[in-house]
Amino acid sequence: METSGITWKNLSTLILAVGATAFAISQAPANDEAIFPMPAGKTYVEECGSCHTAFAPGLLPARSWRRMMGELANHFGEDASLEEPRRLAILKDLETLASDSPQANMRMRRINGAIPANTAPQRIADTGYFKYMHDEVPKHIWQRKKIGTPGNCIACHTRANEGRYGEREVRIPQ
Ligand code: HEC
Ligand code: HEC
Repeated sequence: METSGITWKNLSTLILAVGATAFAISQAPANDEAIFPMPAGKTYVEECGSCHTAFAPGLLPARSWRRMMGELANHFGEDASLEEPRRLAILKDLETLASDSPQANMRMRRINGAIPANTAPQRIADTGYFKYMHDEVPKHIWQRKKIGTPGNCIACHTRANEGRYGEREVRIPQ
């Protein structure tokens, strides 16, 4: 029955292809949600979330984290030094989940695409993606006492310490 044009083999290939496309589409929104992977365990949040939000590693490229983790004794004017095995373990987690890591999701890749390759920004709030995502937040809001600095993600993104920045979890403090 090779004359009919559509053989069972062709048909099943077609069905598989359509199925795969539908699957890819249904996966797209989930993959694009504002959720960033966080290092496993409590170490990261304990060490890097005690003075401010435990920033998701996917908000900066690995080179930014390497530079930051190499100068912790003078971290934005503070001493955030860590003992050696700990520092290296955190650096490894940051590199593994950075915006330019091989397994970065779509959003992380977009963040990365907006950071010039010859720079290693230290402030997330200075990156193009951050500015783009927040250009509708008026100036007077940033000046509120409970916010203080744009880097204070958790003031508005209530679950930032879990890497969650979704729209539904935003609460702007009065
Ligand atoms: C002793 C307190 C302290 C600890 C511990 C600390 N930081 Fe910070 N960090 C600061 C201060 C202060 C700033 C600057 C805040 C500002 O001026 O907005 C800062 C800023 C940052 C920023 C820039 C945020 C922005 O504005 O976009 C990043 C990223 C950052 N820290 C990552 C880390 C990481 C990673 C660790 C853990 C290795 C860590 N911090 C531990 C005090 C700390
Ligand atoms: C003044 C409150 C405020 C602060 C502080 C803040 N954000 Fe936002 N953020 C918002 C608002 C409002 C939106 C827009 C919500 C929307 O409509 O998606 C937003 C959107 C985002 C989005 C996109 C969410 C989505 O659904 O696409 C990301 C990612 C994000 N912020 C990350 C951060 C990070 C990282 C920090 C800290 C370095 C931060 N934000 C600090 C208010 C804030």
